[in-house]
Amino acid sequence: MTTSAVRGTYQVTASELQRRIAARTARVGVVGQGYVGLPLAAALARAGFAVTGLDTDLDRVTALNAGRPHTPDVSGEALAAMLREGRYHATADASALGRCDVVIICVPTPLRKSRDPDISFVVAAAEEAAARFRPTQLVILESTTYPGTTQELVVPLFEARGARPGVDVFLAFSPERIDPGNARYGVQDIPKVVGGVTRECTALAALLYGHVVPRVLQVSSPRVAELAKLYENVFRNVNIALANELALMCGRLGVSTREVIDAAASKPFGFLPFYPGPGIGGHCIGVDPAYLAWTMRLNGYEARLIRLAEEINRSMPDHVVELVAQALNRQRRSLNGARILALGVAYKRGVGDTRESPALEVLATLAERGAEVAYADPHVPEVAVAGRMLKAVEPTEERLAAADCVVVLTDHPEFDYVRLIEVASVVVDTRDATYGLPAPSGRVVTL
Ligand SMILES: NC(=O)c1ccc[n+]([C@@H]2O[C@H](COP(=O)([O-])OP(=O)(O)OC[C@H]3O[C@@H](n4cnc5c(N)ncnc54)[C@H](O)[C@@H]3O)[C@@H](O)[C@H]2O)c1
Repeated sequence: MTTSAVRGTYQVTASELQRRIAARTARVGVVGQGYVGLPLAAALARAGFAVTGLDTDLDRVTALNAGRPHTPDVSGEALAAMLREGRYHATADASALGRCDVVIICVPTPLRKSRDPDISFVVAAAEEAAARFRPTQLVILESTTYPGTTQELVVPLFEARGARPGVDVFLAFSPERIDPGNARYGVQDIPKVVGGVTRECTALAALLYGHVVPRVLQVSSPRVAELAKLYENVFRNVNIALANELALMCGRLGVSTREVIDAAASKPFGFLPFYPGPGIGGHCIGVDPAYLAWTMRLNGYEARLIRLAEEINRSMPDHVVELVAQALNRQRRSLNGARILALGVAYKRGVGDTRESPALEVLATLAERGAEVAYADPHVPEVAVAGRMLKAVEPTEERLAAADCVVVLTDHPEFDYVRLIEVASVVVDTRDATYGLPAPSGRVVTL
């Protein structure tokens, strides 16, 4: 067979791929069935695609095939319906990728201990896909990563297997922007940004996402899409740092941070309110800026605002411990030996995710300084704090009253804040969960 004959076949196959995506008959493989991959798989299945969810975690695969989801964004009923209708199944067998028309990679991108990017999951997943590559496939990377990953890392893996980007493999980057537990914005409500290695790669990826999201923005390259995602989270990180610094300043000036922010937010343009908290947690806001700072260091540039924001945000857990110590001191008690009950250890409200949660650092430091710590969290039955497993307790009236200080670290909606401020002797509220409630003077301390 001549090259042109091969090319001719591929061209037909490429248009067949396009036809299948347009007709929703393409088989889609989603690599990584975590907080990002599972809701995406569900949205694609809902749109009519047959979806294979690939994950290396066998327990997760078994649970998913039994109809037990692990994220608030996909309900048990929705998963059961996908399985029943044959639109979805999970597997740990990577050979399934060879049967897919589209492969979407949603694996973790954490940091190493040195706070450099750990790109090993992306490499492993892309290698799996490249090893099983068959003409003609659309392969999309969704994991948040440093600018250049798709072009410099993913493309060569496919080229090494003889695949030609834009000819027989269509490669693109499209960042996931999901906010787990957000009831207002799910995958299907958030516009997608798509940057392909070639124009055709971009167009094919946009065609796919057009079936599940309200709007697809096509950009000129994967690098633009990669950087756009990092910029979104750097923006959030820097603004949270600014709110945290405002809180530190308001504490010294004796005014309420929340009142200042709400007053500023009455301006109808040019201001976006962000609120202080006990620090940054989760897999994104605290991690993604480090990906950009690392890339920039390699390019001879120090990202100064990113560094400063990180410094401020990372100082917040210690600040919270100081507020607890001061609150106890005002009651003539010391932190050493005090009984502290923390409400919430998840990194944000409504979820059970404790990755990078600042609550863990607050609890560890309190314990280190001699406090007896316990926690309540309806979403986290147990958690390791400074190498010791703690089990969640019920925040009963007796426990709230018995604690020397209750510290609100996650503003889960399940907690009864009215009762909390009625019965607790002193509350350090790092999330403004009690804001506006009638608190006896001096009993509630906020950031
Ligand atoms: N969680 C969020 O809020 C969020 C939002 C937007 C973007 N992101 C980004 O999306 C990516 C995924 O994050 P997540 O929160 O879904 O992670 P997660 O840890 O919840 O899920 C990742 C899944 O991938 C699986 N996995 C790892 N390596 C694999 C491999 N080689 N093959 C198959 N499965 C593999 C893991 O077992 C796990 O189930 C990250 O880059 C993250 O930064 C996350």
